[in-house]
Amino acid sequence: MNIQRDISLKRLNTMAVEAIAESFCRVDSRAELERLLQSRRPDLIISGGSNILFAEPRVRGLTLQLNLRGIEAQDYDRDHVLVTAAAGEDWHGFTQWCVARDYGGLENLSLIPGNVGAAPIQNIGAYGVELGDVLFAVEAIDLESHDTRLLRTADCAFAYRDSLFKTAQRGRWIIVAAQFLLTKKHHRLRRDYGAIDAVLRQRGIRRPGIRDITDAVIHIRRQRLPDPLLSPNAGSFFKNPLLDAGRYDTLRGNHPDMPAYPQADGRVKLAAAWLIEQCGWKGRRLNRCGVDDKHALVIVNHGGASGAEILGLAAAIADSVGERFSIDLQHEVNVVRG
Ligand code: EPU
Repeated sequence: MNIQRDISLKRLNTMAVEAIAESFCRVDSRAELERLLQSRRPDLIISGGSNILFAEPRVRGLTLQLNLRGIEAQDYDRDHVLVTAAAGEDWHGFTQWCVARDYGGLENLSLIPGNVGAAPIQNIGAYGVELGDVLFAVEAIDLESHDTRLLRTADCAFAYRDSLFKTAQRGRWIIVAAQFLLTKKHHRLRRDYGAIDAVLRQRGIRRPGIRDITDAVIHIRRQRLPDPLLSPNAGSFFKNPLLDAGRYDTLRGNHPDMPAYPQADGRVKLAAAWLIEQCGWKGRRLNRCGVDDKHALVIVNHGGASGAEILGLAAAIADSVGERFSIDLQHEVNVVRG
């Protein structure tokens, strides 16, 4: 464990934004992490860097890169297995580890960039499944007491792309591992969402297994979303807005073809990508960044864009959507300010 000064974080964020960490430390084991915490409290924890935007060229304080690795499975009951993955495991690699052993539950969440430790913070979700649906517990170090605690799913205040770790207790916990209760027999595969069923039909698969679902999801994501290695991006830049039923009815009157997804709580989720595309932003560039030409919810760094430039583009997009639809878009990406 070695604390370094003035380290570039450009290769550690999928938006490829240049930012210099005042102090930086990478830990490769729990023992190293515990040793570090005896003397320093990190100011920023960076994991896969796939959902982060550095707003300023310098990041103050200590940035900690968590490189904890390891996956273990243990029998839970006749139908379930409890799988624990360390925070630094690559998320997609972990989903494929589970699929290869025929452990079901994470297949719809394939190919999401990032690491295991960040997944609960963001409550990642895709194709009808959210992390909170399959998570059993999070193992985390409390930075106030230095105790390691197991937080059960119900303690994590999960909501759409939201959790305790982003809101009420932001900065309090370091997630070191996550545990998932996965199925050995798969009675309820989610195949009804988006294009999954269409891909399965195209492939002539009538009774899919979890390998078929994972392959379909990977195929759809590759078609729809730009690869961060080729076009640096952080996935969806904004959250899909949630409207109460009254506001939605009014808006639908003027935009009958607007995609909308009714939620269990009576609210209606709109597609931010559609709103942005309607405002003419899809494929448009502003300085060194722009809106992706395949998916309007993704902002791409075309080379050398600063965080401020990207935030400028995001603000211009949000202004257009606000003016045209009276909807206030919220960032999905976590913005680090100084
Ligand atoms: N659409 C457009 N223009 C576009 C793209 C999409 O009008 O350029 C419309 C289409 O009508 C489409 C609808 O928007 O049916 C929804 O698009 P999509 O199915 O691609 O999903 P999304 O709502 O844009 C969300 C998540 C994604 C996740 C997908 C699939 C958020 C913020 N994003 O995107 O997650 O992969 O659903 O479940 O909830 C991420 O969080 O980074 C992410 C990529």
